[in-house]
Amino acid sequence: MEDVRTTYTIGKELGRGQFGVTHLCTQKQTGDQFACKTIAKRKLVNKEDIEDVRREVQIMHHLTGQENIVQLKGAYEDKHSVHLVMELCAGGELFDRIIAKGHYTELAAASLLRTIVQIVHTCHSMGVIHRDLKPENFLLLSKDENAPLKATDFGLSAFYKQGTYQLSFLSVTL
Ligand SMILES: Nc1ncnc2c1ncn2[C@@H]1O[C@H](COP(=O)(O)OP(=O)(O)O)[C@@H](O)[C@H]1O
Ligand SMILES: [Mg+2]
Repeated sequence: MEDVRTTYTIGKELGRGQFGVTHLCTQKQTGDQFACKTIAKRKLVNKEDIEDVRREVQIMHHLTGQENIVQLKGAYEDKHSVHLVMELCAGGELFDRIIAKGHYTELAAASLLRTIVQIVHTCHSMGVIHRDLKPENFLLLSKDENAPLKATDFGLSAFYKQGTYQLSFLSVTL
């Protein structure tokens, strides 16, 4: 497989989660900037973990072109890691924006929630359940006050399968 470093220069760290560390990366030929999430293979201990990463790539690819969802540009693999090159969300996590702002007006919070519900609807209408919705997994495209919100981190996501999931509060199997 092609080494990610042949095409991109890996730069500063942008953030990290439970599974991956994301760095700024620059496409050597064009100078365009992206984000590269690196998942260390040593963290993938069992078959399910490996399946999860495969599914993350597959689901991001499936959702490519959808507004408000981080676009996947390419997936790479080397001896030690899997790398997902994605559209750069330079505004960082919604989590940090909320902390920095301190509070939202009811109107601003409603507008934000409307976008979040729209994103969830897009996922569901395309047969995907995200399963890890939280402010750390929504990113802002730029540092702009009105920057578009983008959902990311499909590491725990799944394709919806009829009859597989249980609505525990209703105790019925779909
Ligand atoms: N496309 C991106 N642009 C900018 N920062 C990103 C991007 N993707 C991820 N990050 C940063 O890296 C963090 C971890 O990425 P994430 O996909 O949530 O990995 P994990 O599965 O480890 O939680 C995010 O919370 C965010 O801070
Ligand atoms: Mg995350």
